[in-house]
Order: sequence, then C-alpha cells, then structure tokens
Amino acid sequence: MPSTNWEDIDHYLNDHGVDEDASLASAVQRSKAAGLPEIQVAPNQGKLLSLLVQGLGAKRVLEVGTLGGYSTLWLARGLGRDGRIVTLELDPKHAAVASDNLTRAGVRERVDLRVGPALDSLAKLAEERPAPFDFVFIDADKANIPHYFDWALRLARVGTWIVVDNVVRKGAILDPASSDPNVQGVRRFFERLKGERRVTATAVQTVGSKGHDGLAFAVVTAEA
Ligand code: SAH
Ligand code: DHB
Ligand code: MG
Repeated sequence: MPSTNWEDIDHYLNDHGVDEDASLASAVQRSKAAGLPEIQVAPNQGKLLSLLVQGLGAKRVLEVGTLGGYSTLWLARGLGRDGRIVTLELDPKHAAVASDNLTRAGVRERVDLRVGPALDSLAKLAEERPAPFDFVFIDADKANIPHYFDWALRLARVGTWIVVDNVVRKGAILDPASSDPNVQGVRRFFERLKGERRVTATAVQTVGSKGHDGLAFAVVTAEA
C-alpha cells in the first residue's frame, strides 16, 4: 500500500537507525518550550549532516543559522572530540537557548557561537584569517543565501562541502516573479551555482515531517 503520509514515513525512518539521542530530543523540546519556531532540520536530515561530517573527516565546521542548536548538535555528533564548529545566529534569544542546549549535550566548549547578523560575523571571521572550513551548512535567512555562499567559498578550500537548506520552498522557487525575498534569494543562489566554475553541485527535493523543501550540495573544486 503506497502512502504519501510523509510525516508517518519520516517517523518510521527516524525510528530505524537515525538514533536521535536524548540530548538531541531534549534540544527540540527545550527550543519549543522557549517559543522558538519549529524550523530545525528533521532528525533524519540532521543525521545526514552528521554522517557527511563524519565521512569527510571534517574538523572545522561553519554553520550559518543556529536557532536552538539542533543542527549544531548533529554536526557536533559527526565531528568527534577534536572538531570545532563556528555557528552564527542573529537572535540573542535563539543563541541563548542554543548555548543551553549545547551545554546540556556536553559539546558547548567545541562550539564558537557568535551572535549578530551573519554577514557582519562572517566579515569579522574572515578578518581573523581562520584555517579553511571543511564543511559549511547554510541555514539562516534565505534572502542572503547568495552572500552566505560567497563567504563560504572564501572561507573554504578545495574539497570543502557547502550544504544549503530550504532551497525548494514548496516549489515556490519556480516563480521568477515571486515577491518573496526568500524565494528570490534561492533563485539567485541557483543562478550563481549554474555559472560557478569553482564548485560542482547538486540539489535534491526533501519531503517529510518538515514539508516539501530541498537541500543543495556543493563541493569546492578550485580555490576562490
Ligand atoms: N540550523 C537550524 C535552523 C536555523 S532556522 C537547525 O536546523 O536546527 C534559521 C535561523 O537563522 C533562525 O534562528 C534565525 O534567527 C537565524 N537568522 C535569520 N536571519 C539571520 C541573519 N541575518 N544572521 C544570522 N542568523 C539569522
Ligand atoms: C524557515 C527557515 C528554515 O531554516 C527552515 O528550515 C524552514 C523554514 C523559514 O524561515 O520559514
Ligand atoms: Mg532550514
């Protein structure tokens, strides 16, 4: 019996091998209790981030858009003890909840959580001339995705993975005349991707407990 009940199917998948642990589940609960929007990645998507980080042997991760730290925690799970994450969040309230969640999960000291507009934080970060990031997850305001992608490229090395969340928006990205700045941001990002010779990329639609959206994946093939 085929089913289009994405929610039930996600439940089933999350129950078979995803292994969301108690501190991850509690991060979702505490974020919700604090009134944060429930827009964190789904457990199976978080696990995908974790597996990629683990599989690549990434040591340095950059995340744009922390919310309550749920995706941050999944990234940290894939990193291991000597890995570090820089995560950028605009909203001090979100950052406070994230800090608490990361502390409870025992990974707070491995995460450099910076509060403020990510474009400012990225400019500051670049001035510090950090070692290149191995993995970048872009998941903040969608209007700025093209700018975050530019910064990711500048802070990357050949071989760095750049993953971008929410690149389908229930299919709204197909409307070139959309008045939604988020949609326009995603469209400009894809236009960039099409002409960008320094990366090789793909994007896939996602459907599940978080509705219909998509993830883009780019691997850096040449220095910025
Ligand atoms: N990555 C998180 C979800 C992030 S939701 C997870 O999956 O668990 C998007 C977050 O981006 C929100 O917390 C929002 O406050 C933040 N945000 C929005 N605009 C931003 C900006 N200009 N700079 C930094 N963060 C921003
Ligand atoms: C929104 C943001 C996200 O990062 C997400 O995963 C889903 C929705 C939003 O701003 O609507
Ligand atoms: Mg997202």
